Amino acid sequence: MDFLACVQTRRSIRKYKQEPVPNGVIERVISAATFSPSWKNAQTARYVVVRDADLKNELAEKCSMGFEFNKNTIKNAPAIVLLTTVSSRSGYERDGSFSTSKGTHWESFDAGIAAQTLCLAAHAEGLGTVILGIFDEDKVVKAANIPEGEKLSAMIAIGYPGEAPNMPKRKAPQDITKYIG
Ligand SMILES: Cc1cc2nc3c(=O)[nH]c(=O)nc-3n(C[C@H](O)[C@H](O)[C@H](O)COP(=O)(O)O)c2cc1C
Repeated sequence: MDFLACVQTRRSIRKYKQEPVPNGVIERVISAATFSPSWKNAQTARYVVVRDADLKNELAEKCSMGFEFNKNTIKNAPAIVLLTTVSSRSGYERDGSFSTSKGTHWESFDAGIAAQTLCLAAHAEGLGTVILGIFDEDKVVKAANIPEGEKLSAMIAIGYPGEAPNMPKRKAPQDITKYIG
């Protein structure tokens, strides 16, 4: 798929076909995400692929902060990717101090880039995804046994699309861009 077409036609998908996503396909999509840039090439993004029905149910029922949309999406998706980052590396000096005045901002930045690369690679493979930001982090960490020293950045539902939503309206570049010089 042409790059721009991939960027423009990717949509957040919240309904999926009940068809499993083969390991090889998940691996290709995560492999694409490993090509993302990261702070000093720290590569702190980690992925937990949840396909277990009981755990998916727990993420939906107990970790979604009562947000019905996400409950339904999680239950419906064949897999949920938990995108975590190894803490205290991205944006940090070797002595543990922050490298910039933005503090912990950079690990989320790295995770965001990895998430979008994963979503675009998934789209190019014919898969749908949606990034889920509404969750109770402590509950997800406990339920999925995320190791100490990692933080949950986002959950990403993934599967073959069962809907084709219209594109939500986008701002025009001339309305959001300022040229200096
Ligand atoms: C950081 C982030 C968090 C998001 N959280 C949610 C969420 O919790 N639930 C949901 O249904 N969509 C979520 N979305 C998806 C956005 O609603 C969606 O990207 C936006 O409406 C634009 O639609 P599109 O992705 O189809 O272009 C999130 C997206 C991002 C980038």
